[in-house]
Parts: sequence; structure tokens; C-alpha cells
Amino acid sequence: MSVLSAIARAARPATRALPRASLSLAAARGVHSLPQLDYAYDALEPHISGQIMELHHKKHHQAYVNGLNAAEESYAQAPSPKDQIRLQPALKFNGGGHINHSLFWKNLAPASAGGGELAAGPLKDALVADFGSVDAFKKKMNTVTGAIQGSGWGWLGYSTETKKLEVVTTANQDPLLTHVPIIGIDIWEHAFYLQYHNVKADYLTAIWNVVNFKEAERRFVEASKL
Ligand SMILES: [Fe+2]
Repeated sequence: MSVLSAIARAARPATRALPRASLSLAAARGVHSLPQLDYAYDALEPHISGQIMELHHKKHHQAYVNGLNAAEESYAQAPSPKDQIRLQPALKFNGGGHINHSLFWKNLAPASAGGGELAAGPLKDALVADFGSVDAFKKKMNTVTGAIQGSGWGWLGYSTETKKLEVVTTANQDPLLTHVPIIGIDIWEHAFYLQYHNVKADYLTAIWNVVNFKEAERRFVEASKL
């Protein structure tokens, strides 16, 4: 018997002895983690304050990550389909929060690193074709996003059915499922209130100075292939 076989043989009973629930727990635990930002918290100033960015990333996004990991652990241990169904709102809320914020950090960039600049290319061409002009697109995105009642997200999404860019919204932390997300704007109060108070429109005007259009174009080009 080889050494590896002997080790494997010796290890097998111990693995078998683990209760099924423990194996599920081990498999599910710690799957999701908070992604690092590609820029400093204060790098989006003066358009989005460092205080907002730090709290938003370290506290709010971390809470969704923790909630998702906890919900998945509970789901893995749920004894019946009814118990699994009971957990689905927590999976949707925290899972959506993790997905949406992971997209959001990537679709922002400091103005000093090209944030806010939309170069000539396929995304600009498509925005002009589908909205008339880039300014008309921004105006529509801000109007639709600003009109969300309560908390939610405004999106520039690509429809693989119509092959067009469209402005759509999702409520709460629902992820965008009807379109491929190209640009997402977080309109939860935690995203702007410390700096812009109740004036959503000012936040929505300012954010275009730090939108990472290079990332948006990369997503658009990928989505166009679907
Ligand atoms: Fe948020």
C-alpha cells in the first residue's frame, strides 16, 4: 500500500463519521466575502464622500455578505422544503445586496482615473442609438431612478431579447434579472444621505462624474455577444 493510499484509508473513517449537517455547514461556511475596492474610500470626493464610501462598503455591504452566508448555512440545515421556502426572502435580500453592491463598486471610478469619461466606442454609439444622446440617457436614468419609492436601484440594462439598452429599476435589493446590468445606481438613503440629505437629484447629478464607463462598456460588449 502506498503512503498516499494509507493516508487516504486512515482519513476516510473520520470523514464518514462527520454528521451530514456538519459537512453541509463546512461546505457553505464563508463562501462569500467582501470584495476589496479598486480605489481609496475618499477617491470619489467631492462627488461621493469618503465617509459614505467607508460606511457603505465596510458596514452595509459587509452586512449583506454576513446575512447571505448565514442564510445559506440555515438553508443547508433546513429540515424540510417548507423551512427552505421560509428562508428564501433572506437569501434574496442578502444575496441581492451582495450582487448589487459588488457591481456598484466596479461601476465607479475616481475622476482622476477616468471616472465620468465616456470615450467614443460601442457603448456611446449604443446610448446615442437607443436614447438619442448621452445627455438624454443620463436624464432618463436620473428621472426614473429618482422616482423610485423607498429603496431600490436604477439600472442601465441590456436586453438580450430586444438587443437594446434600457433604463429599468428594481426594488429593495432585488438583483436585475430581466436585463444584463451595465450601470447600477444605488438609491438607498445610505448611499447619499450623509452628504446630500434629502436632495436625491444632486446625488444623481454628481454620480455621473465618477461612473466607470470603461467597465460599463466592457459589460456592454460582453452582453452584446449573448
Ligand atoms: Fe447600498
